[in-house]
Amino acid sequence: MTDWIVRDYVPADETSWLRCRVLAFLDTNYYDDVVTAKPSRAPGLELVAVADDQVIGLLDASLTGTEATIETIAIHPDHRRLGIGRRLVTEICTRLQSQGATQLDAWTRDDKPTLAWYESQGFTQEFRYLHVYASTPGEAALAFNSPLNLRPRTGFFHGTVDHEDDVRRQFTRVHSCRRFVKPLA
Ligand SMILES: CC(C)(COP(=O)(O)OP(=O)(O)OC[C@H]1O[C@@H](n2cnc3c(N)ncnc32)[C@H](O)[C@@H]1OP(=O)(O)O)[C@@H](O)C(=O)NCCC(=O)NCCS
Repeated sequence: MTDWIVRDYVPADETSWLRCRVLAFLDTNYYDDVVTAKPSRAPGLELVAVADDQVIGLLDASLTGTEATIETIAIHPDHRRLGIGRRLVTEICTRLQSQGATQLDAWTRDDKPTLAWYESQGFTQEFRYLHVYASTPGEAALAFNSPLNLRPRTGFFHGTVDHEDDVRRQFTRVHSCRRFVKPLA
């Protein structure tokens, strides 16, 4: 097994962090959620798992009042199921609790392994809405109801689950976006 440690992110990790995130998302429903610069977070809420000076796992969190959110969690595909995700979330929970957080949430789509992982870490799903992509000019024309004679080519929409069957019939790329919540004792 590769030796790895968890520590705070430092600016010198940025390139490795970005590569790890892209590769971790590549086989998920977030495959086109790419950032080219690391978003900055509050001190102490940016964790990385590192092996041989390379980032192989990362977790960013934010805290507003007593409510915390996992902004990003990603484990390099060659290093999954080694306990890295568990270690990162355990460490961030300890840090967040010491800052007064009582709840940690995370938003994620339909990937079964990820859903299973959140549940295994004590999260429960409490809300779900839709992420709808209008991926072709035809779908975009359907989605936009503009009176301004605009000619949309693509689009990304949030929708409620009330019309889920109709939305799924009319659009080829539809994700459930789920809010998972974990109480912090
Ligand atoms: C989901 C993810 C964060 C899990 O991290 P990980 O380091 O691979 O998982 P861990 O080793 O911490 O798993 C701990 C436990 O969670 C459960 N678990 C993890 N992956 C699982 C899977 N694919 N299926 C079922 N249970 C799973 C198991 O109980 C596991 O313990 P075990 O390996 O001893 O059985 C990681 O696989 C990942 O980055 N996936 C792609 C990116 C992503 O989806 N990020 C979230 C977007 S919001």
